[in-house]
Amino acid sequence: KTEQQPVAILVPGHFNDHAVGRIDRTFRRIGIERADPSLVTDEMRETVRGIACFGGINAALMDALPRLEIIANFGVGYDSVDARHAGQNGIMVTNTPDVLTEEVADTTIGLLINTVREMYAAEKWLRDGGWVKTGHYPLSRLTLRGRSVGIFGMGRIGLAVARRLEAFALPVSYHNRRKVEGLPYGYHATLKGLAEAVDTLICIAPGGAATEKAINAEILSALGPNGVFVNIGRGSTVDEAALAAALANGTIAAAGLDVFADEPNVPRALLEAPNTSLLPHVGSASEHTRRAMADLCVDNLISWFSERRPLTPVPE
Ligand code: DGY
Repeated sequence: KTEQQPVAILVPGHFNDHAVGRIDRTFRRIGIERADPSLVTDEMRETVRGIACFGGINAALMDALPRLEIIANFGVGYDSVDARHAGQNGIMVTNTPDVLTEEVADTTIGLLINTVREMYAAEKWLRDGGWVKTGHYPLSRLTLRGRSVGIFGMGRIGLAVARRLEAFALPVSYHNRRKVEGLPYGYHATLKGLAEAVDTLICIAPGGAATEKAINAEILSALGPNGVFVNIGRGSTVDEAALAAALANGTIAAAGLDVFADEPNVPRALLEAPNTSLLPHVGSASEHTRRAMADLCVDNLISWFSERRPLTPVPE
């Protein structure tokens, strides 16, 4: 059993009872609600050596905790942890890759089909009594048949999505900063080149400064009037005003969005658009997968404090 170490849990709502129970059995837990340095008490300053969190850790909080050794992020995306500042200060950052790959890929395919076949609108119509009142639902304007799909962000999840798309006989190509050797999918050196070549763009790129508003008016216009855009990565990657305009004026046909720039707030123009399928950031959100993510998050802390060996450190 590990020596009892204090851990601050931030945003505790994202941890299930199972994870919190494991932390309590292994560590002395100090919970705070927000990554706000003004909430750091003298006791925390003197004792906290690890953080379990769902993002949201800035440099100021790290600086307020001089004994901090490790930030264990619950989630594969760690764009809202200042990993550069952590690295500069010798603080380890871990995340939860792999355990959510298949779940997020499943959600992506579901969101794609829902968007293309307008199932979100058909279901609303049924619930609102449209079937009884008016008979058959209008035919969907779009179909999956004949589409070519571009993946922006060909990592583990991108690959799992691409493999699923093979079963639909849809051609796949991708854009990453660098080509991934050995993949059977076409590579485009620029995001614009990818958008020009496909009519369906799936964004699984990490958030952060390098991808901020990468999906802009120019990319959406390159996608074209039959275009469908799906975002399962991060909302910050999209210029949401440009997306809303493109959906309203027919620059693209439809969008399926699981993530937004200012969650939980969704821009009114996207909420009211008839051609958007919207989800509340649930890509990985099954009990099964969230439990696996919570386990990996806690296991990273335990391994660090017992053997100084993080299980899944984020890339340098
Ligand atoms: C992740 O793992 O980054 C997801 O967005 C959390 O669900």
